[in-house]
Amino acid sequence: MNFKDYITIVPDWPKPGITFKDISTLMDNGDAYRAATDEIVKYANDKQVDIIVGPEARGFIVGCPVAYALGIGFAPVRKEGKLPREVIKVDYGLEYGKDVLTIHKDAIKPGQRVLITDDLLATGGTIEATIKLVEELGGIVVGAAFLIELSYLDGRDKLDGYDVFTLMTY
Ligand code: PRP
Repeated sequence: MNFKDYITIVPDWPKPGITFKDISTLMDNGDAYRAATDEIVKYANDKQVDIIVGPEARGFIVGCPVAYALGIGFAPVRKEGKLPREVIKVDYGLEYGKDVLTIHKDAIKPGQRVLITDDLLATGGTIEATIKLVEELGGIVVGAAFLIELSYLDGRDKLDGYDVFTLMTY
């Protein structure tokens, strides 16, 4: 399947100069969504993953069906003020802004093998922050899987030493 056929390019959104890659036209197609999920499941299969971690909001869309397929759990990483119990947090930079990400303190047990999922690897700030949270809790990041990589933003440089899988590259 040519997954790029299902991505809609939206110029100048959410700001002038940003070319947004809209995954909603992949997700609303059952065959494409399943095929994309299957590719990540295949990637994860030999990694003995214990739990999937994904940042809101689109990391959930990508990671939850993978967790379901593998029969393992999913732990959400959320922006500040969204998780109800004790959290740890980290500041991070975005392609277009800054924010704080949090995870529940008991979401990962020390030594658990974690696969991180998200829709997009852009500057890598979000995933770098997510890795920090997982590692602070004692998790082992065994891979990071994305639907899309914007290679011109060099996000991979921040993921040196980690195993990275991307379905599409722009
Ligand atoms: C987008 C995207 C990734 C991140 C990638 O999320 O879904 O999580 O930015 O950018 P980076 O590699 O430069 O960090 P966003 O923060 O817009 O949140 P949302 O999914 O809740 O809209």
